[in-house]
Parts: sequence; C-alpha cells; structure tokens
Amino acid sequence: MKKGMSAVYPGSFDPPTNGHLDIIARSSHLFPEIIVAVTDNVNKKHIFSLQERINLLRKSIKHLNNVSVLSFSGLLAVYLNEIQSFILIRGLRAISDFEYEFQMALMNRKLNRKIETVFLIPDRAYTFLSSSMVKEIAMLGGDTADFVPECVEKELKERVLSLSKDKYAK
Ligand code: COA
Repeated sequence: MKKGMSAVYPGSFDPPTNGHLDIIARSSHLFPEIIVAVTDNVNKKHIFSLQERINLLRKSIKHLNNVSVLSFSGLLAVYLNEIQSFILIRGLRAISDFEYEFQMALMNRKLNRKIETVFLIPDRAYTFLSSSMVKEIAMLGGDTADFVPECVEKELKERVLSLSKDKYAK
C-alpha cells in the first residue's frame, strides 16, 4: 500500500447498517483515509433522502477520525477520477455477492483502468444483513436494534411510522 492513499467505500446506505459500519471500521485500519461515498442508486426507491443518509452515516462513524462522508452523483468511476482516489472498498458477504461484485469491479476498471477494488469480508454476524431486510423488519414492527446503530434505529422507527400513516391516510 502506498503511503497516504485514500480508499472509497461507495453505496446507497438506505439505511446504514452495522454491516456497513463493520466494513468501514475494518477499512479504516487498513488505509490512512476512508471516504464513504453516498449516492442515489437509480435502481432503488430510497426511504431516506441523500442528506438524511449522509447525516446518519456521519453520526454513526464519528468515533473514526480518518473517515469522512461525502456524496456523489453519476458514474462512480468519474467521481473517483475527480477526487483522484482509485481504491474502491467493497464488502463480500457471501458467494452470492461475488458475481455482481466481480462484474462491477471489472466494469469500473474498464471505465477507468486506475481503479482497483479491494474486497473485505464482514464479521460473520453481518453476512445475512441488507438494508432492504432491515427496512422490511422495521415496517413489520420488528426489532432492528441488533442490525443498525442506535441513531439509525430511532430515525427508522419514526420514518416507518410516518410512511404507514401516509399509506393509511390515502
Ligand atoms: N453489510 C450489510 N449490508 C450490506 C453490506 C454489508 N457489508 N454490503 C452490502 N450490503 C447491502 C446494501 O445495504 C444493499 O442492500 P439493499 O439492496 O437492500 O439496499 C445490498 O447489500 C447491495 O449493496 P450494494 O451493492 O453496495 O448496493 P448499493 O445500492 O448500496 O450501492 C453502488 C451500489 C452505489 C455502489 C453502485 O450502484 C454504483 O456504483 N452506482 C453509481 C453508478 C455507477 O457507477 N454505475 C456503474 C457501476 S459499474
């Protein structure tokens, strides 16, 4: 690893989970600087706005002093070029993630040959986690305390409550 290299952990983080934080913490020990890059995934409908997701992440990582949270829009490869940071961090939770991650790593490299993707294995406790699953549990009144940071759990409860009120008001 070259001295002073930063690495970027991209995602939509709707909402951030303990699985994401596990990857952020692991990468913060490996690289001098980590940029968590939040974006809108065009294939997904988000329940938290971009700014809300950034705020939730900032609250959740405040104990890690080499991590910052920024946002980007458009192609990740273009953004990496803009900030001149070419190491991408991705978590590999299970074999099922591999095909998609492999495709994405090669596509990003095709778009910008300087980009290298580094895969980290999360703690086993988080291998089954996803943001959608956490949202579904919250929407069905389940307890999400084991899956998300405290600040996210609180906001998620409130958001789900207001979404269900809106739904039944129609
Ligand atoms: N712990 C817990 N959950 C995890 C996880 C971990 N370690 N790693 C991933 N997940 C979850 C995510 O929360 C997400 O859950 P969801 O599908 O229920 O929302 C799911 O696994 C998939 O994660 P990911 O592949 O990181 O999706 P994403 O939407 O968070 O991020 C982008 C995808 C933003 C990185 C990708 O779409 C992108 O690069 N977009 C920019 C446009 C672009 O350049 N496109 C071309 C790419 S080649």
